[in-house]
Amino acid sequence: MSADMRELKIEAARAALDRVQDGMRLGIGTGSTAEEFVRLLAERVAVGLSVIGVPTSERTAALCRELRVPLTTLDETPELDLTVDGADEIGPRLGLIKGGGGALLREKIVAAASQRMIVIADKSKLVETLGRFPLPIEINVFGLGATTVAVEKAAHGLGLNGSLTIRQRDGKPFVTDGGHLIIDASFGRIPDPRALATALNAVPGVVEHGLFLDLADTAFVAGDGEVRTVEAA
Ligand code: A5P
Repeated sequence: MSADMRELKIEAARAALDRVQDGMRLGIGTGSTAEEFVRLLAERVAVGLSVIGVPTSERTAALCRELRVPLTTLDETPELDLTVDGADEIGPRLGLIKGGGGALLREKIVAAASQRMIVIADKSKLVETLGRFPLPIEINVFGLGATTVAVEKAAHGLGLNGSLTIRQRDGKPFVTDGGHLIIDASFGRIPDPRALATALNAVPGVVEHGLFLDLADTAFVAGDGEVRTVEAA
C-alpha cells in the first residue's frame, strides 16, 4: 500500500474517531482502514478515553489487545452504540459490499447490534453500482457443492452470471473465524442488491453474504484533499 493511500485511510479513520464519545460501546471493524481506526482509538484510550469494543475478527481482537483497547463480547454487551468499519464497495444509499478480509459474518452481526454504523474508506471504494468487487458469500463446509449450485441458480434467476470461486489462501481453502468457507462471486454489476440479498438468504448452507444494506448510516470517504461525509438518507 502506498503512503498516500495509507494517509487517506488515516484521515477517514480520524473523522470517525471524532464521533466517538466517552463511555461508548463500540463495534470495531476489520481490514486495513479499520486498523488505522484502532490505532487512533488506542492513542485516545491511552490518555483516558473510556470505551469498550467488540472486535469483528480475531485479527482485530489481536490488534486491540496489543494496543490495550478494552474488549468485550456481544454476550456481555449485546447492544452497541457505534460500529466503525471499512468496506470493499460503497454504493447508492450506502449499500455496501464487505468481506474482502473474510470477516463479513461477525461484521454484520456487530453492525446489526449497533445503533449506528460509520463506514471509513478512501474514495476508490465509491461505486455507482455494487458488484465490481466480487461478492463474498460465507457458506457452511457441509454441502459445499450443492450450496454452490444453489447460489449459482439463485443468481441466474436474477440475471446475474459470473464465476463463483472458493477463496483460497496459501493453496488451501480460506477458513473464516467461524470455521466456514467463502465463495467470491464475480457478478460485475448487481443492479438490485436487495433482490440478491433476499435470494441468497433463502439458500440453505449460505451462512451470510457481504451485501450490507440499510446498516450504514454515515460514510467518511477520503480523497482529493478532503474527507467527504456521505449520509445514507
Ligand atoms: C473485512 O472482512 C472487510 O469487510 C473489510 O471491511 C473490507 O475488506 C475493507 O478492508 P480495507 O479497509 O482493508 O480495504
